[in-house]
Amino acid sequence: MVLEPLGKLFNTAAVLSWDASLTLTNTLRWNRKVGQVTPAGCPGAGGKWPEFIPPKEGDSRCSCPALNAMANHGILPRDGKNIKFTEMNQKIRETYNFAASFCYFVPNYAATMLKKDYANDTFDLVDLDLHNGIEHDASLCRQDSALVPDQSKPHAPFIRELLDSASGKDNDGNRLLTIEDLTKYSTKRRVEARETNPDFTLAKVHKTFGSSNSSTLLTIFGGRVDDLETILLEERLPDGWESRILAPMGLTVITFNLTVLRVERGIDEEKFIADREAAGATPKDPAETAAAAETLS
Ligand code: HEM
Repeated sequence: MVLEPLGKLFNTAAVLSWDASLTLTNTLRWNRKVGQVTPAGCPGAGGKWPEFIPPKEGDSRCSCPALNAMANHGILPRDGKNIKFTEMNQKIRETYNFAASFCYFVPNYAATMLKKDYANDTFDLVDLDLHNGIEHDASLCRQDSALVPDQSKPHAPFIRELLDSASGKDNDGNRLLTIEDLTKYSTKRRVEARETNPDFTLAKVHKTFGSSNSSTLLTIFGGRVDDLETILLEERLPDGWESRILAPMGLTVITFNLTVLRVERGIDEEKFIADREAAGATPKDPAETAAAAETLS
């Protein structure tokens, strides 16, 4: 009985100390070169992604745009089924340049959530949509599951609103989503989901998952609006795309959390409501949202 939580604690501590050593190594070694981030011999090396084929009837997809994109390119099985947790670990590392520690930790967490054995079992992408497992309310790319139970498809109006709010630009003039843009839109989604979804819940752990998932838009995807349009709306990796993480050992949990914490700390629902009242705007009408969801489901 006591051994199970102790085992989990030991596992987390081991991953974090491994992650700390990778974070340190990243400061001591040269960065990967732009154009050579995806390792040679892996899908996407040199920006050449395997053919994109949208999901067919019966294929399994989920609420995660990054995993769906991998299945759409055949990096994960195209039908999205019978995926080994260990296979997902290796493939997300090669594709997105997350550190080995992250790529072990998250699939391991998912296996535990699904009461499966990380080393031996498989899952279908749809299994990840277990509500209030990792999937949660107030997402940026999906309507809440109480309104739209099928979480496999992007909700374009949210994605467009998010990307239209991008206020940054890089030196080449590319439009960039900034931390402030992401916190503002996350705040709006939380307020409006709370007001329109009668079954709304968002525990602290799911707030953190929300900010973690969305922080990949700023880190792995570098906030680049032109890339994110393709990745989030079509769940396709653009030709020539590679992870924006140049760190030789990949994006570690520790480094990633510097962004996640800034995003989560910036979210202020009370201020959003006060500003909205000051501007004379009204809360979203739940009936309108339910009707819109109905036409989509
Ligand atoms: C390691 C295995 C992974 C698992 C088990 C996983 C699972 C999930 C789940 C269940 C969601 C839905 C959360 C929600 O309700 O909003 C999600 C969303 C998301 N994930 Fe993943 N994911 C994984 C890897 C990744 C990677 C590697 C990236 C980026 C490269 C990524 C980027 C995202 C993004 C951008 C969202 C959308 C967030 C939103 O709509 O607010 N995920 N993921």
